[in-house]
Amino acid sequence: MNRAKPTTCIFLLFALLAGISSAYEYGDDLRPCEEDKCFVAIHSDVPRCWIQGDNQNIDYMRPLDGGFHVIPNACRRSNIFGGDGYLVAYPSTGGVVLLRNPLAVDLQYLGLPNTHDTARSPDEDDDLATRMVQLGAQWWPNWDIYFRHSSRVHGGIFYDYHFPFEVDVAFPTTGGAWVANFTRDVLRHGYEDQVCQSWLPHAPDLWHVKMRYALTMDDKSETMKELGGTFYNSVDEVPGLAKTVQEAVSLFEPFKERLNSMEDDGYRGRFCADDEDDDEDAANERPEKPRWGIASLFNGWR
Ligand SMILES: *[C@@H]1O[C@H](CO)[C@@H](O)[C@H](O)[C@H]1NC(C)=O
Repeated sequence: MNRAKPTTCIFLLFALLAGISSAYEYGDDLRPCEEDKCFVAIHSDVPRCWIQGDNQNIDYMRPLDGGFHVIPNACRRSNIFGGDGYLVAYPSTGGVVLLRNPLAVDLQYLGLPNTHDTARSPDEDDDLATRMVQLGAQWWPNWDIYFRHSSRVHGGIFYDYHFPFEVDVAFPTTGGAWVANFTRDVLRHGYEDQVCQSWLPHAPDLWHVKMRYALTMDDKSETMKELGGTFYNSVDEVPGLAKTVQEAVSLFEPFKERLNSMEDDGYRGRFCADDEDDDEDAANERPEKPRWGIASLFNGWR
């Protein structure tokens, strides 16, 4: 089943060679990353990386793994309007705090323009990173680990609690906070969904559309109230929401090992299918969660 046709292999080999041979040809507006002052440090062997205008392009050599990504270069704060949609802060504790395609109201809340991208002032990184995590932004140790796993999640590989959740937050003018917490797994309708039920729900169909039309935090709160957010009197009462970058770093801690486990094809294939057999270690690491769908039925019959 996994055996590729010889013609496919030859084609892939050709594409690979073409990729390697063109790796060091840069046009006038393209610069190799390491030679640019706006270079964002990438921590793994990246086959191709180049700066083009305001963006840094990273190609983990499609189609092999990792995908192609456009992030704002280190001199820019965002590439929402001209790139892959990232708003980025680099806190002094290290790592990356990012929001992908932030809402207009979120930009407004953060004191950033909603009509164009902005330059980065490194002395604002800590403050911005703090306000971003309060809005549900995720801290990551570096871009590599984020891309490695997010491209798999987007590609439909079931991660469930192994990938940080999608957290939305709204601060109504009357006080308190509305919070929602969804899985980032792609919605599928196949067999796996019946065996491997997500721990967290998917965002409702209208969620992202309605969020996009919110003009104020009160609009955002109303949508969250209507479509399934949870209200808290104070952000201090919200479990799993960071108030500081340091807390965001701690919240990431359990994911290090979970993401690492997902590097193992065997683990990935069975983590949700067999709940308690074989893998004692995995079972010990597994957080408290509801029973799986069909798998729990079978377990019930034993
Ligand atoms: C989201 O749900 C997960 C799983 O129940 C939980 O561990 C996490 O704290 C929640 N986060 C927020 C912000 O509600």
